[in-house]
Amino acid sequence: MLGKKMEKALNEQINAELYSAYLYLSMATWVEDEGLDGFGNWFKVQAQEEVSHAMRLYDYVYERGGRVRMTQIEAPKTDWKSPEAAFEDTLEHEQKVTALINDLVSLARKESDYATENMLQWFVAEQVEEEDTAGKLLQRVKLVGSKGHGLYMMDRELAARVFTPPAAEEE
Ligand code: FEO
Repeated sequence: MLGKKMEKALNEQINAELYSAYLYLSMATWVEDEGLDGFGNWFKVQAQEEVSHAMRLYDYVYERGGRVRMTQIEAPKTDWKSPEAAFEDTLEHEQKVTALINDLVSLARKESDYATENMLQWFVAEQVEEEDTAGKLLQRVKLVGSKGHGLYMMDRELAARVFTPPAAEEE
């Protein structure tokens, strides 16, 4: 049975993951409005990943006999000054999410909730990947700047990203 403190913290993380999806969808609409549909595809796939993160926590809470409660999702920013600014915010956001995951691991340890600590290890590893990807894309978009050809090539590349459900990745 999930302890009340852990249940509340996991519910907050579900909200944070759904906010992440909402933020990336907001970035998708902004870049698409700028004519960068490939960038838009990347952010939409990112949003799908975030929903899958929320669902992983949702399923876990029920598996442990807890209760999920949906709460209000904060409205994200709607405009950026450049694709570079959007990736700067992406990296900063992922760093914040990493801190939230680390806090959850600390709480699980404090509560001697080893099952939750074990479940969270997937998120610890995922955050390494999330920060790495966001950092590398930021670096590349900085190199390309607002120059037409480079941005066009990057847009084409990002158009190829497809969503792979995490369960399928593990098989
Ligand atoms: Fe759910 Fe981007 O971390």
